[in-house]
Amino acid sequence: MARRMILDCDPGHDDAIAMLYALAQRDWQVDGFTIVAGNSVLNNTVRAAGQVLTVAGRSDVEVHAGMGQPLVRPLITAAHVHGESGLEGPELPEPAVPPAEGHAVDWLVSTLTAARDRGEKIEVAATGPLTNVAMAFRRDPSLTEAIDRVVVMGGAIAEGNSTPAAEFNILVDPEAATIVFEADVEVTMIGLDVTHSAIFPAARFQEFRDLATPVGRMTADLLDYFLGFHRRQYGFDGVPIHDACAVAALHDPRLVQTRHLRVDVETSSRFCDGRTVVDLWEVTGRPPNVHVAVSLDVETFFERLVAAIASYPEGG
Ligand code: BDR
Ligand code: CA
Repeated sequence: MARRMILDCDPGHDDAIAMLYALAQRDWQVDGFTIVAGNSVLNNTVRAAGQVLTVAGRSDVEVHAGMGQPLVRPLITAAHVHGESGLEGPELPEPAVPPAEGHAVDWLVSTLTAARDRGEKIEVAATGPLTNVAMAFRRDPSLTEAIDRVVVMGGAIAEGNSTPAAEFNILVDPEAATIVFEADVEVTMIGLDVTHSAIFPAARFQEFRDLATPVGRMTADLLDYFLGFHRRQYGFDGVPIHDACAVAALHDPRLVQTRHLRVDVETSSRFCDGRTVVDLWEVTGRPPNVHVAVSLDVETFFERLVAAIASYPEGG
């Protein structure tokens, strides 16, 4: 039986590529995509997910619309990175099918409950603010019994991107991140210090265009747009595809080296809200709660990324 996985995301350029990476893995059955507000407002992130699936010819996989606001804070979006729609750049079709009926958190609860009752396990990747996942855990903490592990793109040991202290996904909903990091489940954190070590070079974008497929062209257009921000902000001649790193690490844990450490999330500070406070030198003596990625096999990741995008046929 195929391994089962759920991707919770807020597309977003790198989320879109993460979706494509997940769907391309032959030994994975993607049960569904749960969508959260983050890079853009919920209507936009839900629409973007449907558009990506339409280009990929995979509208058979359901999109579930979830939380439109963080647990307790107003939403912060990232239009300066992803554009107003959250997925600027490529010309995209209307979604071939509407999102599934109902709320993503209800769907997560019922899907994980059924899996738990049958003794089955589902792997979870979360590449947006952790609001949906935290809500599900709040509803029923025993859902974690159905989860193999959760790989989160978020945080960092030693840098920020939205503020000097905080990474975007954690900054948007630090209360949700706290709930997930403290849940009774194996959590792996793929932070900025790891994703920024994997800058996919602009010189290689053409490899996707040369595939001459709808997915290849969309990927190249997504990367071209994403490059604009990364050139302006960091002077990078390429882009970190943050969310695809997390999905790749969920699919094959050997791609990352991790350390099991205490991670607390700052929720009430003038300058440091959203900071993942990683106890790298184990000075607190508090029990470790997160497997923190400290390095990534970048070349193997790039190889698999290119292979994943190349696996889509000419018609979709
Ligand atoms: C994260 O923030 C979003 O803009 C990206 O999609 C990624 O999940 C990087 O900080
Ligand atoms: Ca994201």
